[in-house]
Amino acid sequence: MSGKETPGTGTVDTATKKVFVKTYGCQMNVYDSQRMTDALAADGYCATDVIEDADLVLLNTCHIREKAAEKVYSELGRIRQLKEERAKDGRETLIGVSGCVAQAEGREILRRAPAVDLVIGPQTYHRLPAVVKRARGGEKIVETEYAIEDKFAHLPHPEGRIVRSRGVTAFLTVQEGCDKFCTFCVVPYTRGAEVSRPVSQIVAEAERLAASGVREVTLLGQNVNAWHGEGVDGREWGLGELLFRLAEIPGIDRLRYTTSHPRDMDDALIAAHRDLDKLMPYLHLPVQAGSDRILKAMNRRHTAEEYLRLIERIRAARPDIAMSGDFIVGFPGETEEDFAETMRLVRAVGYAQAFSFKYSPRPGTPGADMADHVPEAVKGERLQRLQALLTEQQRDFARSLVGTEIDLLLEKPGREAGQLVGRSPWLQPVIVDDAAGRIGDIVKVRIARAGPNSLFADPVGEIGAPERAEATKGVYV
Ligand code: SAH
Ligand code: SF4
Ligand code: F3S
Repeated sequence: MSGKETPGTGTVDTATKKVFVKTYGCQMNVYDSQRMTDALAADGYCATDVIEDADLVLLNTCHIREKAAEKVYSELGRIRQLKEERAKDGRETLIGVSGCVAQAEGREILRRAPAVDLVIGPQTYHRLPAVVKRARGGEKIVETEYAIEDKFAHLPHPEGRIVRSRGVTAFLTVQEGCDKFCTFCVVPYTRGAEVSRPVSQIVAEAERLAASGVREVTLLGQNVNAWHGEGVDGREWGLGELLFRLAEIPGIDRLRYTTSHPRDMDDALIAAHRDLDKLMPYLHLPVQAGSDRILKAMNRRHTAEEYLRLIERIRAARPDIAMSGDFIVGFPGETEEDFAETMRLVRAVGYAQAFSFKYSPRPGTPGADMADHVPEAVKGERLQRLQALLTEQQRDFARSLVGTEIDLLLEKPGREAGQLVGRSPWLQPVIVDDAAGRIGDIVKVRIARAGPNSLFADPVGEIGAPERAEATKGVYV
């Protein structure tokens, strides 16, 4: 060891390293990016929003559609230039690719983008600090084997300080992977088989989030309602029972979950929507298509009628529930009549929110090898018609709330000074005057107006009412 490399300066050196993480894809990637940032923070990397300052650039990628995957390569081209610029100043830059493209393409990424230093799949994130260390030693690393150990148990838990700075809402992954093998979808290949995290781990993480000021927790999983585990009573629990347990945690006032599969909506989960006030009346329940023939070809394993009946049961349990969904248009073999059935189903349900996509053939999935691919122009035209209908439904739902009083969780400052933005129970952004309360408060507001993407509201009653209500309670106890 040279005289200069004292342990002290060594620590300072590593502490000044910076990581820039860019996240693509679903909320599970958002959650994973945070956990990876936490793991790297424990290893001396602090997060930065300025890519030019980063000693490590990590792209957490999505493989769901071709566009998503290709975006990664164009971004890698830009980052390579950055790496060369920084090298001129004698600064080293590591480039990492994580997420579903990493898992699906592995070594191929190094071939197409040789500036990349490390490729790490979603099952091995707990090894990230060790992988980064090896990469700094000049090794090129591809780590995509499925690890036998439980990555969640090995990822460091976020410190309260870090979580608090992330706000009053948080994601919590409870389930990962998918065994359903819809014929269009890469997820079973990129995320592996269904795995549920144990109740004790989930409860402990939710309690830590609550202690750091989080009031709303969204449980995540590629098939979140396939979650199951041994309950504290020794019985087998499903997501419904888990939600009841999490609702007992003081400080957690709102619960959500996403994404759910129609086949896994069981009675206990529907009962949770009926009985748990903390479970928000909003359900993302993708159906993909309205034609039974296409649903069969997609291997969704339910009919359009079964989906509609399921929604009837959910609405009977929780009449104010707002439905959200995902749709694919132009799956191989989709005729105009099949598409008309999708439009009929959308009209029958009435969605408050929805996501719709043109079918994108993914290498290695059965759909890609099916006959009768639909021309791009037809897909585009069907998507436009579907989106026009969904946008109209979303607007109608937003307008139906004008004049009503709702509970609003204040989340962050608005774009304009003097404004706060919160979320309605139905997940819409709501803008309100900052006199309505403080970030983290749940306040009563009256919806005054519906804009295209958000609602505008006025505080109801006295300003600062929530705090005073607490004080009043104190006097009476
Ligand atoms: N597990 C969820 C969906 C996960 S993927 C479910 O079962 O519904 C998110 C959405 O991406 C899907 O619901 C689907 O609408 C869309 N999607 C998945 N693969 C696609 C593909 N090959 N082309 C277009 N959209 C796709
Ligand atoms: Fe993909 Fe289907 Fe699994 Fe959803 S249920 S992740 S769409 S294979
Ligand atoms: Fe994309 Fe992977 Fe999520 S493919 S949608 S990031 S599970």
